[in-house]
Amino acid sequence: MNVTVFGTGYVGLVTGACLADVGHDVMCMDIDADKIAGLERGEIPIYEPGLEAMVKQNVAAGRLRFTTEAAKAVAFGRLQFIAVGTPPDEDGSADLQYVLAVAKSIGEHIDDYKVIINKSTVPVGTADKVRVEVRNALEARGHQVDFDVCSNPEFLKEGAAIEDFTQGARIVVGTDSERVKALMRECYAPYNRLRDKLMFMDIRAAELTKYAANAMLATKISFMNEIANLAERLGADVEQVRHGIGSDPRIGYQFIYPGCGYGGSCFPKDVQALMRTASQAGYEPALLNAVETVNRRQKQTLFTKLMQAFDGDLSGKTIGLWGLAFKPDTDDMRDAPSRVLMEALWDAGAKVQAYDPQAMRECRRIYGDRDDLILVADRIQAVKGADALAICTEWKDFRAVDFDWLKQQLASPVIVDGRNVFDPVRVREAGLLYFAVGRGDSL
Ligand code: UGA
Repeated sequence: MNVTVFGTGYVGLVTGACLADVGHDVMCMDIDADKIAGLERGEIPIYEPGLEAMVKQNVAAGRLRFTTEAAKAVAFGRLQFIAVGTPPDEDGSADLQYVLAVAKSIGEHIDDYKVIINKSTVPVGTADKVRVEVRNALEARGHQVDFDVCSNPEFLKEGAAIEDFTQGARIVVGTDSERVKALMRECYAPYNRLRDKLMFMDIRAAELTKYAANAMLATKISFMNEIANLAERLGADVEQVRHGIGSDPRIGYQFIYPGCGYGGSCFPKDVQALMRTASQAGYEPALLNAVETVNRRQKQTLFTKLMQAFDGDLSGKTIGLWGLAFKPDTDDMRDAPSRVLMEALWDAGAKVQAYDPQAMRECRRIYGDRDDLILVADRIQAVKGADALAICTEWKDFRAVDFDWLKQQLASPVIVDGRNVFDPVRVREAGLLYFAVGRGDSL
């Protein structure tokens, strides 16, 4: 099948590469000419395990190509995936300008039947807006062409995007058209062989499914962070509590890891957008408000612990920082807890000496050159001469550590761990002061 994908971000590029990989002919379109030129040279703008090889292979096989030309892109695919960004507006709602711009350009160039597929995370009702936009652009040309709009939200996680696309639990398609169902079935058939993962539903239900899934996962995390904060004050170890509750299959072990808050491009943005959608619909989303409040507070937790450990004065201190990305296996720092910590440390007059296996370039891009940000080449250099160590991301190379060595490196023997990476007994045996999340260590 010929498939067009608009947008070469995480979702667009992964969708394009994975569909090409099973034999579809794919054209990825982006308005960013530098990005497209880079992709044509085999340069992948993001770090995502396995993606570079997959893109290169499929470009070499002639099944994946890139363009900046809307006319070419619209003419190419029977299926037109919209996978452009939906950044938050000032009020937290999803900004649809890029999605609607793609819809408009499809309307300006469409000449035969197309299925227009919303893959970006878009508020309930967006499919209707896309339909109107395409129809208006068609009318402006004095043209009439048959087309359908459907919703096909993506559930991929950064760092495991290819696996999630190819082996995900479900493929949700919101549509009211039998023709669309048949075409979407054909598109996903290669990834739908072992069991039928396709779930057809109403368009609005599909749009809401995406937000509900992310909001539910964010709720689990904030709930667990609340229990961790409580455990800290009660002298209980939240990791034991996590084991205790996760063993109940109705609760499950996933997404109940307490920590320094959830980040990334999805949970913070999607929870806020759903809150906004709820208020617009005249409903006060009390639980979503609380999920967001707990998370905002949780991102302050490492700074608060450091302040307490240093008697309220961090000026002139150097804090070693392990982990900048919002989670392991990505270079993404959008809404990362590390940013809240670094910015608070700088305001308090401290320096940050940081290392991350992938996000160093991204950190420099965001913050530029500044005297109070020292980016070092490895985890060892991050602690050399530092007063304390903070951990914001649980990269696997941070897990095994010689604590006696670590104690010698740090001017004050303080570790604040936002991901509960270490065994507190072991760390404390080495004479280090260890402050994790919800582990009975309230200062
Ligand atoms: C999330 C969802 O997991 C995907 O299913 C969804 O498709 C995606 O958003 C999206 O909407 O595009 P992602 O943002 O890549 O994926 O990252 P997650 O692995 O879900 O982690 C999000 C944040 O929650 C991270 O900061 C992570 O450290 C934190 N987290 C996760 C916890 O603090 N505790 C946990 O138990 C799990």
